Amino acid sequence: MASKLAAVIAAFFLLASLAVIITVAVIQIHKKSYVSPGLKYGIVLDAGSSRTTVYVYQWPAEKENNTGVVNQTLRCDVQGPGISSFGLDNKQDEKTWNSFNDCMNKTKGIIPTVQYNVTPIYLGATAGMRLLRSEYETAASSILSTMQKYLQSWPFDFKGVSIITGQEEGIYGWITANYLMGNFVEKNLWNSWVRPHGAETTGSLDLGGASTQIAFTPEEDGKPNSTIAVVMYGYEYQVYTHSFQCYGRDEAEKRLLAALVQRSSGKPYAENPCYPQYFNTTVNAKYIFGSQCTAAQRPADYNPDQQLIILGTGDPALCRKEVLSIFDFTACPGEQNCSFDGVYQPGITGKFVAYSGFYYTAVALNLRGSFQLDTFNSSSWSFCSQDWPKLQEMHSSVKKSYLKSYCFSANYIYSLLVNGYKFDAQSWPQISFQIEVDNSSIAWSLGYMLNLTNMIPSEAYLVKLPMTSSVFAGLLFMFSALAILSLMFLIISVVRSC
Ligand SMILES: *[C@@H]1O[C@H](CO)[C@@H](O)[C@H](O)[C@H]1NC(C)=O
Ligand SMILES: *[C@@H]1O[C@H](CO)[C@@H](O)[C@H](O)[C@H]1NC(C)=O
Ligand SMILES: *[C@@H]1O[C@H](CO)[C@@H](O)[C@H](O)[C@H]1NC(C)=O
Ligand SMILES: *[C@@H]1O[C@H](CO)[C@@H](O)[C@H](O)[C@H]1NC(C)=O
Repeated sequence: MASKLAAVIAAFFLLASLAVIITVAVIQIHKKSYVSPGLKYGIVLDAGSSRTTVYVYQWPAEKENNTGVVNQTLRCDVQGPGISSFGLDNKQDEKTWNSFNDCMNKTKGIIPTVQYNVTPIYLGATAGMRLLRSEYETAASSILSTMQKYLQSWPFDFKGVSIITGQEEGIYGWITANYLMGNFVEKNLWNSWVRPHGAETTGSLDLGGASTQIAFTPEEDGKPNSTIAVVMYGYEYQVYTHSFQCYGRDEAEKRLLAALVQRSSGKPYAENPCYPQYFNTTVNAKYIFGSQCTAAQRPADYNPDQQLIILGTGDPALCRKEVLSIFDFTACPGEQNCSFDGVYQPGITGKFVAYSGFYYTAVALNLRGSFQLDTFNSSSWSFCSQDWPKLQEMHSSVKKSYLKSYCFSANYIYSLLVNGYKFDAQSWPQISFQIEVDNSSIAWSLGYMLNLTNMIPSEAYLVKLPMTSSVFAGLLFMFSALAILSLMFLIISVVRSC
């Protein structure tokens, strides 16, 4: 009697387990049929002061709100100057437009035709256009409307052109770096989204042509309102950021040249200790003094077409000293924590990533990743000590227009990071000079797109726990084991009762 009851119970478990296994399998198969493996795309044009770059990003449609799923699939540099130089030289403009078309055609080639009209396209302009707007507002708006018409002529979902603020540029760069490094959220063993262990974010150092940005989460709040609250995946980060206009690589170099020319008045040429020895160049006064950043240094008898001769003297010690003179370190009266030009900055802390101009300059010195401050100093020093013929011989593949300026860039970066932001021998190796994470560029453009498409939910519950295949596998395993056990028990009871 007892064994009969046991057999009935075992049979029930067997049937129940089989029912569960079949249900789970059916759900899985059904789910597979409606989850499309499709990709979605987004396009961002980063209109910088020295050039425009077209980025195409892609991500799996069904994982839209997961972190770390957006990849860069195309980066195309438009040849020619940035859009803020449009209208200065017709011949150059034509070349630039041709290159724009090339990049846009590449974009069309990557995105499936059926997706064109659902692919958002954005243009964000940075410091070059901020400077132009501050001096010639109508010229800036006319360039923006030209860009708008141009982008609307392509078959994508046009979302807008705008000039972003320096603060936005700093924050979007910080978001990009931390998103690509997976610092915001990760999946734990149980497949739910959590903040990674320790939850440290990385600081962001960006060096453009016209401005430079620093962004990081300081250890303690120093001054009230000195940070911005950035809410992501239900967690609030207090981010300090500052954008220094006219401290981009190109504008900083013009400011140094302006100071050197000013001081050489009377002589037929100016000496530049940051250019290599035996390097000798002639530039239009307009090249140096035409910028908003050097307007205050324009000579009284300024003639834009005057030819100025600049001679390189390749003197690393003097170069360092001259570079320091373009910063104002006296402007923080009584302020303990200050970078320069009277700007408050809490003490730097944690890891940093230095990209764009920082990275390219490090590479010219044959450095990348993390290294000692001493190494950076001695590499800059020996680079600056090579005369022009030797330098060209050693770096035959580098464009001369870039090569002549790397000694300046290296000393500029040294002064900006050490004397400006206050990195020292201890904190310097915390900086990683890198341009990409897993083939996606570290640039503000990705953070900009993530923000405009609402792809980073501000609330954690938006990140749903997906019923993943591992959960299904677990269920299947459990119920299969139960089915086998019931079957064995059933066989044993039947054998015994005979
Ligand atoms: C992602 O989140 C946004 C808003 O938070 C929502 O509108 C959108 O439908 C979500 N997308 C997916 C695929 O879950
Ligand atoms: C610099 O070059 C110009 C022409 O290229 C030449 O006339 C001039 O003498 C040179 N100056 C020096 C000091 O080498
Ligand atoms: C200034 O920075 C130091 C360390 O860098 C820090 O200990 C101190 O609290 C900061 N002071 C303010 C007012 O932020
Ligand atoms: C940088 O390196 C040079 C040459 O090795 C050295 O003379 C100089 O003192 C160094 N400067 C600093 C600040 O370490």
